[in-house]
Amino acid sequence: MIRIAPTFVLTFLVILSACQTEQAPSSDAQAQALLSQMTLDQKIGQMTQIDQKFLDSIQDISALHIGSLLSGGGSHPDSNEVNAWVDMIQGYQREALASDAGIPLIYGIDAVHGHSNVLNATIFPHNIGLGATRDADLLQRIGYATAEEVAATGIDWTFAPCLATPQDYRWGRTYEGYSDDPQWVADMGMAYFQGFLQYNDAHERNMVTCAKHFIGDGNTTFGTGINNLVDRGNTEMSEEELWHTLIPVYQEVIDAGVPTIMASYNLWNGTKCHGSHRLLTEILKDSLGFDGFIVSDWAGINEIPGDYPSDVITGVNAGIDLFMVPGDTEHYRRFIELVKAGVESGDIAMSRIDDAVTRILKVKIEAGLMDLPVAEPTEAERSDLGAEHNRQLAREAVRKSIVMLKNNGVLPLKEEVMVTGPGANNVGMQCGGWTIEWQGGMGDITEGTSILEAFESTVGATEFEHQDDLIQRGYKKPVVLVIGETPYTEFIGDRVSLDLDSVDVQWVVDLKQMGYPVVTVLLSGRPMNISEVLELSDAFVCAWLPGSEGAGVVDVLTGDYNPTGVLPMPWPSRAEEGAAAEELLFVRGFGLRYEE
Ligand code: BGC
Ligand code: BGC
Repeated sequence: MIRIAPTFVLTFLVILSACQTEQAPSSDAQAQALLSQMTLDQKIGQMTQIDQKFLDSIQDISALHIGSLLSGGGSHPDSNEVNAWVDMIQGYQREALASDAGIPLIYGIDAVHGHSNVLNATIFPHNIGLGATRDADLLQRIGYATAEEVAATGIDWTFAPCLATPQDYRWGRTYEGYSDDPQWVADMGMAYFQGFLQYNDAHERNMVTCAKHFIGDGNTTFGTGINNLVDRGNTEMSEEELWHTLIPVYQEVIDAGVPTIMASYNLWNGTKCHGSHRLLTEILKDSLGFDGFIVSDWAGINEIPGDYPSDVITGVNAGIDLFMVPGDTEHYRRFIELVKAGVESGDIAMSRIDDAVTRILKVKIEAGLMDLPVAEPTEAERSDLGAEHNRQLAREAVRKSIVMLKNNGVLPLKEEVMVTGPGANNVGMQCGGWTIEWQGGMGDITEGTSILEAFESTVGATEFEHQDDLIQRGYKKPVVLVIGETPYTEFIGDRVSLDLDSVDVQWVVDLKQMGYPVVTVLLSGRPMNISEVLELSDAFVCAWLPGSEGAGVVDVLTGDYNPTGVLPMPWPSRAEEGAAAEELLFVRGFGLRYEE
């Protein structure tokens, strides 16, 4: 990786190293030195993060001394390919270096299951599926691979891992959690994070991770969230319980040096996390010793009660360091003016601004951004995006994520099969939300192998649309039916009912009435109400949201791989009852294997 250093930062570094000949100054000392030369406007700019697609003009980056940009879901260059990404990021970075302070941007993106905004990147299973593998070594390799693919596009920072512990499966973000169990989440999240550290050790450039969403995102009470549902609702939990359940998960990654943490949209006992001094400053920074920076979630401060000017003051004073003011609601210029007004009126102490900026600068220094701000990935590095070695890894992850819930002997499939259902030939449905676009999409949205295609290249398969096709062909063997959820992200995926689609259920009923053995493959971001289909099916397999490499599903169905995946959360008879349900179909940890 070649990076080009700006003259300002370079001079500053030369002066610094000249004063300290014995040993290199700590990143903290470097950050302080830089801070001491900055104006208030430059400092506030550092605390501002805009989604690139909402920039009024690229010159705003230098004029306002912007500290960070992001690509939210679906925010990509016009041509969504690796070189266009690199060019886009370089252009923004050069603009930042052209400002008087010349401090490089840190660029964030949701690489939440692979580099999932980028066309033809490797799409790994969503976290729920990775949780089902329970394989820390695998998670570490996925962290490494994701760092590689993010670096290929010249980006520094990913908003992952998500450390949620989903309890209510009606929550549209259930699939972003590895498990409902905090220790299970900590094990998976740590391993993924270590993959990034391992990448950093092997490269001159450091990729920055972000543990999110602090805290209680997966523990909200139904009815208290957006649209009276789950997402961004209220987490009712005593502080003592918080210390025993959710805080230890964060303590682990903080002790291991996670550089950034994202505040959560939800409330904790009635107070928005974004406005909670107790959570962000007293607990996270003071008690847990977190010395990186806290980023707010997308327009997250807007949801603090009160008008926007008071939201800004409360957010800064609560302890948020970098503000994701993406630009779709309040204008970033207004945010900047309000912070300045807050400092001038004394509502915000200068020491708070200095703390925030020091933390941001420190992370940038440690990431190596000051030395080599403009990423210039080599051709070889660019070709890591969607590379075969990473697709092979994703396929391994998929086969290890498959949980077999029932098999009356129909599996494994050794001969050509007939395949149907909405998910049979549907890479988009396999990938789920957070894929290319914020909400994902159905069909051929990116490069990948569908389940049907994977069958075709192994035992052989034919897709059929109507039951009549089976009869006409005189087909007598098992039928593979791939059903499940269509893509969704965040609150858009909140549901009142977790019933399967009635059309999906009808398929199973019809096929059984016709006398066919049925292998049901469920693509879903969470446990659902499967009792009836489970009962009717001869085999039932959970594939979660496996991502681009459908061949991993087929590896299990054909017996090429003896399944090892286990449920990362309990599966109730009524999925709406969530992790706390008393009546379970399967306990956490359940998963069948083939007899050897
Ligand atoms: C989500 C975060 C995400 C951010 C940036 C928010 O809506 O809650 O998980 O990192 O947007 O896209
Ligand atoms: C998401 C962003 C997305 C935006 C679209 C946010 O909630 O986090 O990633 O681009 O909504 O409006």
